[in-house]
Amino acid sequence: MTRKIDIFDTTLRDGEQSPGASMNTQEKLVIAQQLIRMNVDVIEAGFPASSPGDFRSVQDISRLAGDRCVVCALSRAVDEDIDRAAEALKMAKRPRIHTGLGVSPTHLREKLGITEDECVERAAHAVRYARRFVDDVEFYAEDAGRADQAFLERVIQAVVDAGATVVNIPDTTGYEMPDEFGARVRGVAENVSGIENVTIAVHTHNDLGMATALALAGVRNGATQVECTINGIGERAGNTSLEEIVMAIKMHGAALDAHTDVVTTELTRASHLVERITGLNVQANKAIVGANAFAHSSGIHQDGVLKSRDTYEIIDPADVGAAGSEIILSARSGHAALEHRLKELGYTFPEEEFDEVYQRFLEIADQKKEVYDEDLESMVQERQRDIQAIYTLDALQVSCGDPLVPTATATISDESGEKHVVCSTGTGPVDAAYKAIDQVVSVHGDLQEFAVKAITRGIDAIGEVTVRIQADDGRIYSGRGSDNDIIVSSAKAYVNAINRMIQTDRTRQGF
Ligand code: KIV
Ligand code: ZN
Repeated sequence: MTRKIDIFDTTLRDGEQSPGASMNTQEKLVIAQQLIRMNVDVIEAGFPASSPGDFRSVQDISRLAGDRCVVCALSRAVDEDIDRAAEALKMAKRPRIHTGLGVSPTHLREKLGITEDECVERAAHAVRYARRFVDDVEFYAEDAGRADQAFLERVIQAVVDAGATVVNIPDTTGYEMPDEFGARVRGVAENVSGIENVTIAVHTHNDLGMATALALAGVRNGATQVECTINGIGERAGNTSLEEIVMAIKMHGAALDAHTDVVTTELTRASHLVERITGLNVQANKAIVGANAFAHSSGIHQDGVLKSRDTYEIIDPADVGAAGSEIILSARSGHAALEHRLKELGYTFPEEEFDEVYQRFLEIADQKKEVYDEDLESMVQERQRDIQAIYTLDALQVSCGDPLVPTATATISDESGEKHVVCSTGTGPVDAAYKAIDQVVSVHGDLQEFAVKAITRGIDAIGEVTVRIQADDGRIYSGRGSDNDIIVSSAKAYVNAINRMIQTDRTRQGF
């Protein structure tokens, strides 16, 4: 059996320190509920001495959690802070006080103004004091990533002797290289006596984009608790992201001699929840939970994934609760991806026709960043209409505006293949286009109804126009047309209605 790595979630404490991420107590409870559902080991619920809101959140989350996980409250190594933390945790079934202070030369000199001896004394006192209230006391050696190693080990020895149950080695500023940080954790694991009875935790920040790598280096070198946040939110560039650490441990458990008990299928839900509550958007290319984490865009990748998912995916999206792999149809997509998606939508084409379909797809893709299912539906329907066409609109050019006279030039093919180029002015661009079309077609229809709607998403959406025209004998014919340009959609709809009128007429006359 591999080592169990405790997942200590600090979304509600360090995560909330992200600029703009503050949450109210109710929102924190909703996130805590999700953390419990995910089976995290520890929830750091807040810093009670910092505000009445944090105090209440720790109280409420303590009640909510029961014995399902440890509830932890942060404090500085100051008696009054520890008192507040203990007070807030009174209802917790498994309370933990997390206390500590800076241990790097910068923190000692610039922030705290104390000597090394004073630091050791304060650290040991804080742990002893917290142990009066709870049995589970975690000590954090803030800025350990820039501390002198011998001094760090001295502080850790003092807090272990004072009764700490967990010692947290944070790289508070995300400064170290992963191998250096790993060696630091190993130093603590090897040189502090009694450490075998204490959990070593790592808490790393993402200032150099290495928070997850740092935490994993810690795990490799003796840490059995990782402190992390959903979506990696936290001070400055954030903390180690929970979903990354959990999935990295899941994928490389044997090499790391590690596993977690987190329910990975809840990761996507947790990410969406935190994104919605904090308003901190997850970048599209974020590992595990980003919108593009399982999206394939290039033709080569799409072809590979369609042959076998693991050509370009190391994680099954279902394992993290994501909807599934996504093939993004764009101008970079090849035949395989288009054919696959059309088949999923229920459309198949004979091989000899497919190239034509693909060319039309490329035309649409050239005008749009992404081609959606609705675009494909509309493309196929239009193609079906074209097949029965008597007249086909090949091109349309319109000029209009104020004070221009709306003018349309249309190129229309008839069923014999002859092309007609016609031009007309009108009261507006649609009227001009319809009058130009009227010059070619052999029948006339009075426009009775005209409706336009966007059938796909975005500013570059496809607009579909529906028209109803009345023939001289009073019959009504409808027509539809779609295009990115609604004037072109309007002209296509009109030609479509004219074609139906002629076809119906021919059928009636026994053609
Ligand atoms: O980054 C840090 O060092 C912290 C401590 C309070 C654990 O957040
Ligand atoms: Zn932190």
